Amino acid sequence: MLPMHRLEGLAKLTGAERYLDDEPIPGCLWGMTVRSPVSRGRITAVKFDPAIDWSSFIVVDHRDIPGPNETYLIENDQPVLAAGCVRHVHEPVVLIAHEDRRLLRRAVAGVKVEVDPEPPVLDYRVPPRAEQVQRGSDNTIKSLRIAKGDVERALASAARVIEGEYQTGAQEHIYIEPNAMAAWVEGDVVVVRGSMQCPYYVLNALKHALGRDERRVRVIQAPTGGGFGGKEDYPSTLAMHAALLSLKAGGRPVKIVYDRDEDMAATTKRHPSRVRHTTGVDADGRLTAMKIDVLLDGGAYVTLSPVVLSRGIIHACGPYFCPNVLVEGRVVLSNSVPYGAFRGFGAPQTQFACERHMDRVAGAIGMDPVAFRKLNLLRDGQTTATGQTIGGISGGTDRVALLDRALKLGAWEERREEAAAFNLTHPYLRRGVGVSCVWHGAGFTGNGEVYLDSKVQVAGLADGRIEVRAASTEMGQGTSTVFAQIAAAAAGYDAGEIVVATPDTAVVPNSGPTVASRTVMVVGRLIEKACGELKQKLGTRGSGLGVGGLNGDSLRRAIVEWHARNPGREPAATATFEPPPGVKFDDERYVGDAYATYAWGACVAHVEVDLRTCAARVLDFASVQDIGRVINPVLAKGQVQGGVVQAIGWALLEECRFRDGAMVNNQLTNYIIPTADDVPPIEVEFVEVPYAHGGGGAKGVGELPMDGPAPAVLNAIADAMGREVGADPMTIPMTPERLMTLVEAAEGAHGV
Ligand code: MOS
Repeated sequence: MLPMHRLEGLAKLTGAERYLDDEPIPGCLWGMTVRSPVSRGRITAVKFDPAIDWSSFIVVDHRDIPGPNETYLIENDQPVLAAGCVRHVHEPVVLIAHEDRRLLRRAVAGVKVEVDPEPPVLDYRVPPRAEQVQRGSDNTIKSLRIAKGDVERALASAARVIEGEYQTGAQEHIYIEPNAMAAWVEGDVVVVRGSMQCPYYVLNALKHALGRDERRVRVIQAPTGGGFGGKEDYPSTLAMHAALLSLKAGGRPVKIVYDRDEDMAATTKRHPSRVRHTTGVDADGRLTAMKIDVLLDGGAYVTLSPVVLSRGIIHACGPYFCPNVLVEGRVVLSNSVPYGAFRGFGAPQTQFACERHMDRVAGAIGMDPVAFRKLNLLRDGQTTATGQTIGGISGGTDRVALLDRALKLGAWEERREEAAAFNLTHPYLRRGVGVSCVWHGAGFTGNGEVYLDSKVQVAGLADGRIEVRAASTEMGQGTSTVFAQIAAAAAGYDAGEIVVATPDTAVVPNSGPTVASRTVMVVGRLIEKACGELKQKLGTRGSGLGVGGLNGDSLRRAIVEWHARNPGREPAATATFEPPPGVKFDDERYVGDAYATYAWGACVAHVEVDLRTCAARVLDFASVQDIGRVINPVLAKGQVQGGVVQAIGWALLEECRFRDGAMVNNQLTNYIIPTADDVPPIEVEFVEVPYAHGGGGAKGVGELPMDGPAPAVLNAIADAMGREVGADPMTIPMTPERLMTLVEAAEGAHGV
């Protein structure tokens, strides 16, 4: 399809778009949060400074919650406001509202939460002592297992067995707009409006904690400045807080906007991980056994950790064929801030480990990393770890050719030769190239999409235009624009004649959360189906072109005529998700089609390390992806480039530092993210293998770009450093401090 400017682009570019913080709400109070000062303990007292006149403030604690004090998600174990005990630093305890933001800040400082401390878990990798156990017998939140073939026997008979341990750190989302939410009461309805990915998640959380049915709760998305998973679950908490304050204030509007430091310190982050690989290969370098142990830090509450673990272990073997696999995954509770959804949802962590390990396996058996990958990449007809045969609707992609295209785009051969020559002569700069191959299942895992039961409505407006109604949110990634393109193509319209409704639970059906790279593929397909149905409803048999026997002109006319005949009503059609035929997954045993289809990618990174500073920088980056049909090339390329930048930050720069369970670098002055100076030229190409069950033939593009860059960059660092000192980077972020330690250790070992 043709590139199309994003619908809200001009408003964002000119600053006309208003985020919630910019929007005046008449009579609005501001809300703020009093938080736990320690990582674990029993609350003994909450003391209010007697010098403050509290009668002018709205004060809420757990006793003001009408329903269960639970955040409705997977396990509902997280309180809305702490009652009795706290599990992490900055856990919300008391809420305060006032119209004067300065007085409010003073008041928040005037509340002391006194806690009798208990021993916290501050390192998820260390098995807990008895007094640190807070869940089950060992703090395990969830264990999952994938087994195929006989991994022990295959390891015993392998020509070589290679082991490795890989670690990744926490990562902050740094969406451009911090979390923000407003709430007020209209008649009998609690209305919440703010920055979010998933209006119906927020609705469900409000229904649960406020003890109200959906007719008495309404959720509206405000313009949202980025999410990356960080606005998947957390906005439910903020919405409940704002609603509780508003209810206590007699229905007056209350707005809570986090400052950047509060957002960084108190909200979810990417799960830290430790992944161990034990790999068997035969004499030719074919993978015969992959035994993988995945450990994730879940933080203080369950949040989305079980499904992050699930996606993590399913992607742990990478896009390779191996007949014998055992993946054992575990996510454990600790007393950090709860870890939650972040672009890739566990898959970047396990694929970092896999792709770094594949390079080390190739090196150990004296094989070229590209030749080793080509030998082992999945071919159509082969099976994944869960026993899914790649082929049919999940097939059609030549992964070896895709890798070749990335190598060409990244000038692999030339750069490799140049780097070797360069490194021989340069006194302190070292260059290297690294490659990675990745995959990403789009949509919810297993039967998740069936349970979601997503719905989309399209309606003909009086002037003949078509309105698309879905709960899927625009957050900068292009949902509205792509929905307009898809609806236009299905209806025979120009995209300018499509109205994409603002997600508002009083208006739009539940098309599911805007997560999991599912929006264009799953929801886009529903838009097509609903448009087809609308045509059918209004169609005169055999009167023209298109699905319902109508082209755009006759559809437009039919809509206008329908309105003339039926004043006060509208012609509309709703489509509901149906799984593609033949896709089956056993949720208990983790066997079968984990995803209906996959997106595939290959990356090449060209990196330079300065031996004086031990800083690594990426000189060039190339990425080739099969995301099915590309609906909007400019937006898709932007998704990939943004993912590469976010992943370079995760790989080299971004380090959450904790002291006694509290993030201490919760400012953008000392939590370092890539700036324009850190971003290399990023070449992007797409291989388009259309997916018959995706909107416009698309698969998912949201998360795949986050999977490949970190291992490619670390493989390039290993390549650059290996010739010199044998430093083998296995942990990210590979900050200069960490790289220096490696270099010094290697120099020591070499007796330099
Ligand atoms: Mo996401 S990390 O699927 O919002």
